[in-house]
This record gives sequence, structure tokens and C-alpha cells, in this order.
Amino acid sequence: MTTILCIGAGYVGGPTMAVIASHCPQHKFIVVDINKERINAWNSDQLPIYEPGLKEVVQKARSRNLFFHTNENIPSLIDQADIIFVSVNTPTKTFGQGAGRAADLQYWEKTAREILEHATSSKIVVEKSTLPVRTAEAMEYILNNNGKGIHFDVVSNPEFLAEGSAIQDLENPDRVLVGGRETPGGQRAVRKIVDLYANWVPREKILTTNLWSSELSKLVANAFLAQRISSINSISALCEKTEADVEQVAHAIGMDHRIGPHFLRASVGFGGSCFKKDILNLVYICEQQGLAEVARYWETVLKMNEYQEARFVENMVHTMFNTLAGKKIALFGAAFKANTSDTRESPALAVCRKLLAEKAEIALCDPYALENARADLGDEAAKVHFTEDPYAAAQDAHAIALLTEWDDFASLDYERIYNSMIHPAFIFDGRNLLDQKSLFTIGFNIVSIGKAPKLHHNNLEKN
Ligand code: NAD
Ligand code: UGA
Repeated sequence: MTTILCIGAGYVGGPTMAVIASHCPQHKFIVVDINKERINAWNSDQLPIYEPGLKEVVQKARSRNLFFHTNENIPSLIDQADIIFVSVNTPTKTFGQGAGRAADLQYWEKTAREILEHATSSKIVVEKSTLPVRTAEAMEYILNNNGKGIHFDVVSNPEFLAEGSAIQDLENPDRVLVGGRETPGGQRAVRKIVDLYANWVPREKILTTNLWSSELSKLVANAFLAQRISSINSISALCEKTEADVEQVAHAIGMDHRIGPHFLRASVGFGGSCFKKDILNLVYICEQQGLAEVARYWETVLKMNEYQEARFVENMVHTMFNTLAGKKIALFGAAFKANTSDTRESPALAVCRKLLAEKAEIALCDPYALENARADLGDEAAKVHFTEDPYAAAQDAHAIALLTEWDDFASLDYERIYNSMIHPAFIFDGRNLLDQKSLFTIGFNIVSIGKAPKLHHNNLEKN
């Protein structure tokens, strides 16, 4: 039996260890966190994050070979562990050198020093967090100058799961990436991590590379994914001017197998805890390496995302006769995407803030993300009415802005909603989830992303 410790019980540490533990009953898995509330939630029926299928996986392994602990017992847990995954947060630095761009490695380095302090035998330390390329070099340096006669092998094993489909992604990953030193010890450590995943992932899907390729591939994968969204969003603006339909364009280009159909959904913008921070980090690394042109190239992916969010609100103001002051607007969705309660960097909250600045009255509706939304909005939450009921949110509203593509929003009784709203009633569909034609027939004015708007008053002008 191998004892595996994971430091950090967040969106990655919790689900990842639960899935690995469920497939490896022969090993013991312990997940620790400094956040007591989070650990209590992992040990209860109310898990700290909403993720389809997570509860079942946790229930299968918890108390059998999966345990969640606060970090009070961390000295002995570190010492007992053979392998330590580190899955702590690596947000964008908000202070000092590199503020606003570089990764804040304080949590990561603290963990490394904790490992060093409490270990009395050699261990494998696995970078699960997303880190700047060559972080492992610094880790090795800190860990291996220990004077204790023990050795640490640092392995990079970045995580590619997406929230909302985390369990599916972990159960059936496109690939698992393991990077290590090309020394006999480094390769032994890599093999140990590969063997863990091989309990359920086909060997041909487990890639091994050198440490730096592995670390960099994680940042590059996110940059490429975000780039596709910014590319299609830029085209959505052109579609709106030319009466081309962005969904038809995406479908047409996506059928070219060299382009492919995925990640071409035009939207109000991408959110989530990682795309922005990882691209900022990539930009910073490029600048540090003297690659200004490369840095500027990737920066435009973020600029296009900001433009898309701003453009969405500008369209709302313009379409609603250039004033939103005192108008009630129902926001359908707070999460940064469907099937998650996560609101980090959610475009829905960015839109909410911009509408509050226009002095609109906001009713925010989401099935799972309201608690996080309230916390993220901080002082501005006091100005927002929160409800899980979309019908209550839309009652007496001038407009609905659909910002998260929850399935439930597609199947609401829009006739009933229309009848409860102030007329003329508007829908701004930031996810192209709703059927423009049928909503227009009901009486709504509807503005979608990358499509010609369907406005009743335009028809009046034309007649
Ligand atoms: P998170 O904030 O949800 O979780 C990190 C956890 O680490 C927190 O609960 C925090 O309390 C804990 N922590 C911090 N310092 C600690 C310490 N010294 N000891 C014990 N616990 C400590 O973050 P996350 O979303 O799980 O992301 C973790 C890493 O994984 C990041 O580097 C992120 O970029 C990367 N990642 C995230 C996702 C995702 O979908 N969220 C996907 C792939 C990779
Ligand atoms: C993303 C990556 O997909 C994961 O592979 C990666 O592990 C993770 O980041 C990470 O490193 O944190 P995630 O942010 O959870 O996962 O979710 P995505 O499905 O990538 O969606 C990100 C944002 O892009 C969401 O706001 C989503 O609505 C938006 N999006 C996605 C679009 O606007 N259009 C699309 O076609 C796809």
C-alpha cells in the first residue's frame, strides 16, 4: 500500500483524489486543507463544490481509502506519505513585481517548505497546481538542500479537467501528462505516477515528457482553448454587422477536421478561475524571456474577452433606448458556465457590475451559484436581489440577460414570463441558448450573440 497525500482540497484536489482513490482501493489517499469549513464539507453530504457525479465518487471511496483532514495533523501526514500531490491555489499576483500578471507562488512555496520541515524520508512531490514553466527547478532546489540526507523527486502532473464535467474528464481523460527529470530517479518517480493512472486510463493516453514541457503544456493548452473562444467572439461582432450567423459560421468552419468543432461557441465571454490567470502568466513569462511580440500576441486573447463583455452591455444599453436607470433586469445565470457553482471570473458577475453602474435594478437567478455570487459581489451584493426562481426574477422586469447556459433556462415557459414582464420586453441571450424565432413570435425583442437582432420596433420603423 502506498500512502498518497494531497495538499489542497479545492476544485482540483478534491475531485481528482476522489477519482484516483475510487480506482485504486489498494492505496490510501488523504486530502488536507487549511480551510476547516471546506474539509468539514468534504466529510459531509453537502460537498463544498457542485459537480455532477462527484457525490457518488466521494461516497464510494470516503472512509474506505479516501480521507479528508484539516492541516492540524499535517506533520505526521507528510511524514507518512510516499507521494505528495500539491494542489494549492496559484492565483494572479496582486502586489509587488509582476502584480496583475505573474502567478502568486506563496501558497505553493509554503507547502514546499512544510513538506521539507516535516519529512524524515525521501518522497515524490507532484505539481498538480498550474505553475509557471521551470517552477520545479526552484522546488527541487528548496527541497533538496535539506541536510537531512533525504531526496525529493519533483514530478509535474498538470490537471486538464474542466469544471462542470470534472468527473467525466477524470474518468475518461483525453490524456494524462506526467513530466519528470530524465535521470534514473526522476524516471522512477514518473513511472510511479504513471502506474497510478494506469489503474483506469489506457497506457497510450498517458504521456511522459520532460518537466518543462509538462509545466508549459498546461499553460499553452489553456491559452489555445481561450484563443478559440476569443477568435469566434471577434467574428461574432462582425456577424452582427453583416447578418451572417455566428453559429452557422462556427459550424461551417468546424467541419474542417483541421479546425474541429469544439470550443467555437460564441458567448458573452469566457470566465473561470484559470483562463485569464494562466494567459496573464504566459504573457509575463514571455516578457521575462524578452519575447515582447509573443507576449503581445497572447495578450490580445484577453483584450478580446474584455471587449466582448463590454460590447454585450453596450448593446443592452443601446437597444433599451440608451438608459437602464431604474429598469429591472433579470440575470439568468451567475456561474461562469453551466453545471458548476463556481463564479470565479464569471462574465455574469462582470455584466452584473456594469449594469449596476448603469443604475439598473438587478435580480440574479442561478440554481447553484448564488452563495458564491453573493460572496464575489462583496459590497455590491446589497444592491442585488438573489433568487433561484427565474419566474420571480423576471416578474416586472424590462429585460432578461441570459448569462449561463443552464439547460433549465432553455425549457422555461417564456409565454408566462413575457406576460409577467414590462413591455416592450427584451431578452439578451449571451449564450445563444434560446430559440430567437419562437421568442420573437411570443412578443420578445431578442438580441443574441453574433446574429442579427430581432426587434419589433425595427419592423415598425421599416413598415
Ligand atoms: P482552490 O482555490 O479551489 O483550492 C486550493 C485549495 O488549497 C484551497 O482550498 C486552499 O485553502 C488550499 N491551500 C492553500 N494553501 C494551503 C496549504 N498551505 N495547506 C493546505 N491547503 C492549502 O483552487 P483550484 O481551483 O482547486 O485550483 C488549484 C490549482 O489547480 C490551481 O493552480 C489551478 O490553476 C489548477 N487547476 C484548476 C482547475 C479548475 O478547474 N479549477 C483545473 C485545472 C487546474
Ligand atoms: C478550462 C479548461 O477547459 C480545462 O481543460 C482546464 O483544466 C481548466 O480550464 C483549468 O485549467 O482551470 P474550465 O475553465 O473549468 O476549464 O471550463 P471551460 O469549459 O474551459 O470553460 C471556460 C469558459 O469558456 C466558460 O466561461 C465557458 O462558458 C466559456 N466557453 C467555453 C465559451 O464561451 N465558448 C466555448 O465554446 C467554450
